[in-house]
Amino acid sequence: MRLGILGAGAIGAKHAAAAVSVGVDVGRVVDRDADRAAALAGDYDAASGSDAKSLWDDSSLDAIVIGVPNCFHRPMALEAMRAGKDVLLEKPMALTAPECDELIAAAEETGRVLQIGYTHRFTAVGSGAKGVVDAGELGAVYHAKAHLYLRRGVPGLGGWFTTKAMSGGGALIDLGVHLLDLGLHLLGQPTAVAVSGKAYAKFGVTMQEYLYELMWAGPPNYDGVCDVDDYATALVTFDSGATLDLQVAWACNLPVGTVPDSMVALLGDRGGLSFELFGDHLLLRSQIAGRNADSKLTLPAVDQMSLQMADFAEAVASRTPGVGATPVEGRKVQAIVDAIYKSDKTNSPVTL
Ligand SMILES: NC(=O)c1ccc[n+]([C@@H]2O[C@H](COP(=O)([O-])OP(=O)(O)OC[C@H]3O[C@@H](n4cnc5c(N)ncnc54)[C@H](O)[C@@H]3O)[C@@H](O)[C@H]2O)c1
Repeated sequence: MRLGILGAGAIGAKHAAAAVSVGVDVGRVVDRDADRAAALAGDYDAASGSDAKSLWDDSSLDAIVIGVPNCFHRPMALEAMRAGKDVLLEKPMALTAPECDELIAAAEETGRVLQIGYTHRFTAVGSGAKGVVDAGELGAVYHAKAHLYLRRGVPGLGGWFTTKAMSGGGALIDLGVHLLDLGLHLLGQPTAVAVSGKAYAKFGVTMQEYLYELMWAGPPNYDGVCDVDDYATALVTFDSGATLDLQVAWACNLPVGTVPDSMVALLGDRGGLSFELFGDHLLLRSQIAGRNADSKLTLPAVDQMSLQMADFAEAVASRTPGVGATPVEGRKVQAIVDAIYKSDKTNSPVTL
């Protein structure tokens, strides 16, 4: 497979490295910042430029990775598919569920592969947990809990990440979507039927007063905009009767050490498990020989970006979805995000 990359930022560079690690050629890199595109392309002996059309017109490319700000996901993926390219589209799939509907329709019309970059499915713990669930070791899983707490992690304050018109939201649509996708994946892709949530903007919006400790996509631009959430919480009920409890923070005042910074937990009627998002092991609870026992399963390290790229290349070759998120699955995440923002705005639960 020969790949084009749209967006030579943080994630574009990771996709390029992942591609070559699994034998996929990087043929062209485009970024609206031509120097940035040239710098990344130079590492891979690829062509570069600042016009996305050069990707669509390059007949040597089979597929495109799209890693640009969220507001460009829908229009760029539509153009790529209509130009006959298969697409690995970064998360979130789009800004809203109706935008996802347009992408689903276009993928069907054009017959293109559209995979959404929910990479936590490919981590050692994400794929390990899926294996445990699918083997039936937990019995029926009735509840998932997922949290991720950054203390002062608002990215690119004043830039596209914190400008709702470009990002669609803050911590929830940036990081919360990973937790939602992983929860849906592990629960077997149920459909959300009720959502009660809140989203708060307490830190970034203070701009100069925000005392930050780390800032990816920085430095801050104090003349820019911050109008997005930095903490969100929700309880999601699914058609299966299962529930998912979510908390996600770019920034919050939870003292360090209170709970793990991240955790995904599954409660089943025969067993349970928990893990940290970038951990190397699962903790398991089950009945063994008539006793309740906890155990630890340490997993071999993997590179989730490479596994995701290999899965995408296989989907392109076989025209069959692999482990990666399909457009319909990407929309499920987005419908929950939309409902959390609606529930927040109306201060009441939302039924779907
Ligand atoms: N899967 C993950 O774990 C993960 C991690 C990081 C980012 N992401 C996603 O990847 C996307 C990009 O994030 P990032 O951290 O790389 O951002 P970034 O700001 O580092 O890079 C974005 C790049 O896109 C370029 N760009 C902006 N608008 C463009 C346009 N219209 N056409 C072409 N190029 C354009 C910018 O010049 C920049 O180089 C986001 O959607 C983000 O949610 C996913």
